[in-house]
Amino acid sequence: MKFFIDTADTKDIRELASSGLVDGVTTNPSLVAKTGRKFVDVVAEICAIVPGPVSAEVAATDFDTMLKEGRRLARIAKNVAVKVPLTVDGLKTCKALSSDGVMVNVTLCFSAAQAILAAKAGASFISPFVGRLDDVGASGMALIQEICTIYRQYPAFKTEVLVASIRNPTHVVDAAKMGAHVATLPPNVLRQLYAHPLTDKGLAAFLTDWAKTGQSILDDQPEERVAKAG
Ligand code: E4P
Repeated sequence: MKFFIDTADTKDIRELASSGLVDGVTTNPSLVAKTGRKFVDVVAEICAIVPGPVSAEVAATDFDTMLKEGRRLARIAKNVAVKVPLTVDGLKTCKALSSDGVMVNVTLCFSAAQAILAAKAGASFISPFVGRLDDVGASGMALIQEICTIYRQYPAFKTEVLVASIRNPTHVVDAAKMGAHVATLPPNVLRQLYAHPLTDKGLAAFLTDWAKTGQSILDDQPEERVAKAG
């Protein structure tokens, strides 16, 4: 399973990417607005930090302007995935950009029917929003299960299921069990994945016992002792 980070904050991206566990980044207009920075500058900077796909969303809603914006965004770097909303014009733009070899992430997916359309339009990624479905009393994870099942019936579909609007580590684990290709995680959720109280407790006990030995792994050089004895 690939992990993308869902943020436009380059400080967070640098820190989290240094783990070597980050495969890509997703942004959206709301996340970019929070930075107060120029969109194309932010996208260029993120693309230089993370070599994997970096989603950058168009702002227009009509096909002609979306296509122009998509092509502009795709010129920023080879790893830009142009993000388009799941509308008729968005899917037309997806089809056109995909045919040109540009990665496209179709966003704001809330039904399996929409996910089928995105796959037919040649999307590289479909982004179903699990948290926002949960927020209105539906089941976000049930939608992921449905899309994964449908896509598996059609090996010709190359679209990856990118689980978006993730709110907690349980969403990530459930998505992994279903075989979703990608989870895009807000920075706080990615940090939560590392955490378990028994890890902290166990480590504290090991360190206390180790301190009692008075040893240092780095100061001890058994190779030299063996060489001298020989
Ligand atoms: C990712 O591509 C989406 O833009 C994002 O996951 C939306 O998350 P939200 O529902 O928490 O805003």
